[in-house]
Amino acid sequence: MESTPESTELSASLNDASERVDSWVDSQVTPLLSLRGVSKHFGPVQAIQGVNLDIPDGQVTALIGDNGAGKSVLIKTISGIWPPSQGRILWRGKEVHDHTPRYAAELGIATVYQDLALCDNLDIVQNMYLGREETKFGVLDEIKMELATNRLLKDLSVSTVKSVRQLVASLSGGQRQAIAVARAVMRDSKLVILDEPTAALGVSQTHQVLELIRTLSSRGIAVLVISHNLNDVFQVADRIAVMHLGSLVSNGPISDYDTASAVDLITTGQSSRVPTTSVPIP
Ligand SMILES: Nc1ncnc2c1ncn2[C@@H]1O[C@H](COP(=O)(O)OP(=O)(O)OP(=O)(O)O)[C@@H](O)[C@H]1O
Ligand SMILES: [Mg+2]
Repeated sequence: MESTPESTELSASLNDASERVDSWVDSQVTPLLSLRGVSKHFGPVQAIQGVNLDIPDGQVTALIGDNGAGKSVLIKTISGIWPPSQGRILWRGKEVHDHTPRYAAELGIATVYQDLALCDNLDIVQNMYLGREETKFGVLDEIKMELATNRLLKDLSVSTVKSVRQLVASLSGGQRQAIAVARAVMRDSKLVILDEPTAALGVSQTHQVLELIRTLSSRGIAVLVISHNLNDVFQVADRIAVMHLGSLVSNGPISDYDTASAVDLITTGQSSRVPTTSVPIP
């Protein structure tokens, strides 16, 4: 068939539409983050070995396991602190080379460590902007920073903080955790990693933090949360990943697990009730 200007234009726009559909389908099926055969050793100590894990967009994955199982090493590997000794890290299906904390931040990986690293003697706004203050005509733009902090806390439904000019020292544990999470998501975060966010909290503060985790996932942000508290895990998680003696022994949707099978996997690395994950070679 002879091509006319109209038919050429039509076929270009069809191609364009089909490319957009392909990229939409890709974003639906390609995990945000994939680990393939990831191992990390410190001299003779094999901290994690052969970890295969997919983290999808917008879901909460709970990382569970006994003390020393390798959970913190795994999140530090994802955060670029300990690049893997072996294996591959893929971000939206593309391999990440020379992973560093800075590169992880550029990708949109934000990690809240257990000690939170907030400054007690500064107020909430100052903590939010520490090291990346907004300025106008060479002076701090306090109004802009204060408005943006209020807006972000409102957006994340953090409602118990009375004033963003309160010193962090005066906040409760749950409020501190909320500020640390808010600071982590201030930049365009795609994956927020939380190491034991409710460990030191009482019942109602724990509830607030779990709500905040759900809010993040409802905004499309993936959350990877370490917890020893299975009640919290079954309340908040969409998926579970279980570490045992440095290996990822099981992972899947929360509906595949119950408390008994999770305890079996944590303590023995096996459960007759759920399939365990084999450890393929990268
Ligand atoms: N910097 C390091 N140097 C040497 N060994 C390390 C280092 N960091 C972790 N390890 C070892 O790696 C293993 C996994 O430690 P990791 O901190 O990941 O455990 P975890 O699952 O986070 O435990 P917990 O629940 O107690 O926090 C442990 O045997 C630990 O001693
Ligand atoms: Mg740990």
